Formats: sequence, structure tokens, C-alpha cells
Amino acid sequence: MSRRYVIGGNWKMNLTLPEAQELGSGLRNRLGSHRGAEAIVYPSFPYLQTMVKRFDDSRVAVGAQDLHTEQSGAYTSGVSVQMLTSIGVTHVLIGHSERRAVFGDSDEIVAQKLSVALANGLIPTLCIGETREERHSNETFSVLERQLNSALRGHTPQALSKLILAYEPVWAIGTGLTASPAQAQEVHAWVRGYVGSLLGSSFASQVPIQYGGSVKPANAAGLLSQPDIDGALVGGASLKAPSFADIIKSAH
Ligand code: 13P
Repeated sequence: MSRRYVIGGNWKMNLTLPEAQELGSGLRNRLGSHRGAEAIVYPSFPYLQTMVKRFDDSRVAVGAQDLHTEQSGAYTSGVSVQMLTSIGVTHVLIGHSERRAVFGDSDEIVAQKLSVALANGLIPTLCIGETREERHSNETFSVLERQLNSALRGHTPQALSKLILAYEPVWAIGTGLTASPAQAQEVHAWVRGYVGSLLGSSFASQVPIQYGGSVKPANAAGLLSQPDIDGALVGGASLKAPSFADIIKSAH
């Protein structure tokens, strides 16, 4: 049986609507009847409904980059889980490092968002990763342990059966610095082991762990050939149909 790979394209705060539509069409054309890796795009909120329609009946799923912890109410600018599910969104990013660093999402908020997504049937990608300073002071594993423990604690393996994890070292995001395949594999193997200690080894062996941080067509195959790297979460290179489609096709 071929290996399961999951490739996400995080568009972040980029693209106008016409550009997003062109990217969507370009991806559809390039992926055609491609039957390899699972692919998910994460456009900005205003484009979600358009993209759900554009990728209707295709192998590309559409996810949101964030959601609010509350279901509804007086939370000006918030976007609730039901708003997302009611327009056909199926996936969501939780705890991206930019949400943590720029918008102040604490471990507690990240845990609440994960619970809200799970309770409402959205497929979450929990993002974890250490900063450059944390890596240099040998805190990588303690940071990842804290992030994983606070988000996953209290959930059963059944409740988390659709979970995707993304290891994104903050120092590699948008910097052109990529963790080497061996560096990333070392952390991924540790993450799988730690998740196993929380949720059991059978859960840990099947949960997809994506790598993120300056993934490009040129380095994707090397990363994805590692035994514990089950996909990629791609920023910059997901904004162009040729490069994102190449990365998806290199996962096999
Ligand atoms: P880049 O691929 O632009 O480094 O971004 C990675 C990322 O943050 C994906 O979520």
C-alpha cells in the first residue's frame, strides 16, 4: 500500500480575489485526476466560499487559517466554527506560529480552538514549533512537549482520529532556511514518540506529521522521503500553481 501524504497550502494574508481565483483554477488544471497526496488549501476568510465552489468535486479540500473559540455572540471580527462548516469548509489550521506570535494565541487558546474544531467536525491541523532562540538554548523538545501536551491532553484517540500535526520550526518559516531532512526527521520521530506516550502507539503511528518552513519543489522530495515526514505545510511556494502542484506531485 502506498504511503499517506497530506500537503497543505497556507496562503496567509496574500492574494486579491482575482489572484486567488486564478491560483485555484491553475491548481485544478495541474492536478487534474492526480491520485497521490491529499491536498488542502487555506485561503483567507473572504475567499473561502469561492474556493469551496472552485474545488467542488476535486481532490483539493478547503480549510480556514483560524477560527474563534466561541460559537457565536458579541465578538466583533470573529469567525466561528459554524460559519465555516455552513459554507462547506472542512479543515482548519490551529495554533500557527503567526497566530501565536502576532495575535497572541496562548497554549490555552490553541487548546480551546482545537476542542471547538473537533466538537464540530472540522479537521484540524495543530501547528507546533520552536523559535530560533529556543532551538539555540536547547529548548526545542520542551517547547514541543508543552505545545502538544496542552492541546492534546484530555482528548481520546478516537476524538483525534482525523488530526493532522504540523511541525514548523519558526526559524524556517519565510526565511528560506529549511531544516535539513535529517534535522526535521529527528524532531518528527521525537514528536511521534511523544504523541505515542500521550495517546498510544497505534494512534501515533497513523497521525500524519507535516513539516513546514520554506518547503519548495527543490527540497520537498528530500524531506518527504524521511520515514516520519508525512507531508508538508507550505506557505510561499503554495501561492503559485506550478510550485504547489510540483510539491504535491513529489509526495509519493
Ligand atoms: P513558508 O513556506 O513561506 O516558509 O511558510 C511556512 C508556513 O508557515 C506554512 O504554514
